Amino acid sequence: MRFPSDFVWGAATAAYQIEGATREDGRGVSVWDTFSAVPGNVRDGDTGETAADHYHRYAEDLDLMAELRLQSYRFSVAWPRIQPTGSGAPNQKGLDFYRRLVDGLVERGIRPMATLFHWDLPQELQDRGGWENRDTAERFADYAEIVFDALHVRDWLTINEPKTVVECGYRNGSHAPGVQDDARAFVALHHLLLGHGLATRRLHAAHPGRRIGPALNLHPSYPADESPEALAAARHQDGVENRLYLDPILKGSYPEDTLAWIAERSPMPEHIREGDLAVISEPIDLLGVQYYTPIFVDGAGERVITNPRAQAEWLEIYPEGLHDILVRLRRDYDGVPLVITENGLATVDEPDADGRVRDDERIAYLHGHLRAMHHAMAEGARVEAYHVWSLLDNYEWAEGYSQRFGIVHVDYATQRRTPKGSALWYRDVIKSGEVR
Ligand code: NOJ
Repeated sequence: MRFPSDFVWGAATAAYQIEGATREDGRGVSVWDTFSAVPGNVRDGDTGETAADHYHRYAEDLDLMAELRLQSYRFSVAWPRIQPTGSGAPNQKGLDFYRRLVDGLVERGIRPMATLFHWDLPQELQDRGGWENRDTAERFADYAEIVFDALHVRDWLTINEPKTVVECGYRNGSHAPGVQDDARAFVALHHLLLGHGLATRRLHAAHPGRRIGPALNLHPSYPADESPEALAAARHQDGVENRLYLDPILKGSYPEDTLAWIAERSPMPEHIREGDLAVISEPIDLLGVQYYTPIFVDGAGERVITNPRAQAEWLEIYPEGLHDILVRLRRDYDGVPLVITENGLATVDEPDADGRVRDDERIAYLHGHLRAMHHAMAEGARVEAYHVWSLLDNYEWAEGYSQRFGIVHVDYATQRRTPKGSALWYRDVIKSGEVR
């Protein structure tokens, strides 16, 4: 399978998951510092305080990216490094770190792709209501503008996985800020999307020629059997998982069925002001697609696991799902260029006696997903780039350091990096532009 010669191969990370240095150079407190400090919230009490120490080791990590021949690197900017309290004048030292990172990428011929919000909201904004407070969307746009002006980056992502913020941050409470309340969850959702739209407008106004879009985790939803009940449940699931995010951004309206369901549990519809959907549907230049797992549901709407899983129990290995979601985007949301901003697998990886990390399971996973993506492209899906999650083993949120998604192993005791078998395999894919 050959990929187009201008296809771009990359890897992704996020600030809180790799940087560490949470108290350095004027960084403010984020909701994840607060959340992870509470016993019981994160496995083994792990926090992002040190993580992969990337804040200090970014130069070494840049060299690693070059060795792996990465063509694109997706990272996120920590809002509390830029505005420690979430508003006001920027912290120069914070901006300088990302400037050095971007310069280092450009020097090595690697394209930077910057995410503005990968969940590390400044705690002070959370104290004022966080995403439930409409003002946070405005604060986000101001922060975005500071970063747009400071960094010479062409491609931007606004909000990473708003659905995970809604589902884990506000519905099941497994992520910061740890709320379990549907009523509040969907109000936060509306303001996350509003923040996306406001920031998108700011970029378009100030920097024509640059590109921006959201990074959405899409979960293709299927009926587990052919009963009418399962079909209806899958349709509902698709609304909650996918259309709720895609439709406002790409069509300018919330899906009616899902909005009616939300209205039964949240005052969210009252928070939609005139003009909001025009802001939210400001045309995007690219859509970041993150794919990990499908969701099969039975007639009762319960999830049914039918595919093999690896370490993370929520993740069913089903490469066809990537094909299906890409073809579906082409069919129902035609036109927008697609960038795979995340796809990957957690496995139990440790170096063997000769120091090598053999992660054949990850190679098989990546192989299957690149094949599925290739099929979708042959059917017309406009995919222009692929980013594996993740470059480095890192802080997997509520799972702490117990789940390793990296193609590069990190020994957290020594911070030593060891490219796994998958990294060497991926380097060959990049070099040849081919998957065998
Ligand atoms: C999605 C998130 O964006 C990322 O932060 C996380 O580590 C991966 N999925 C794996 O769960």
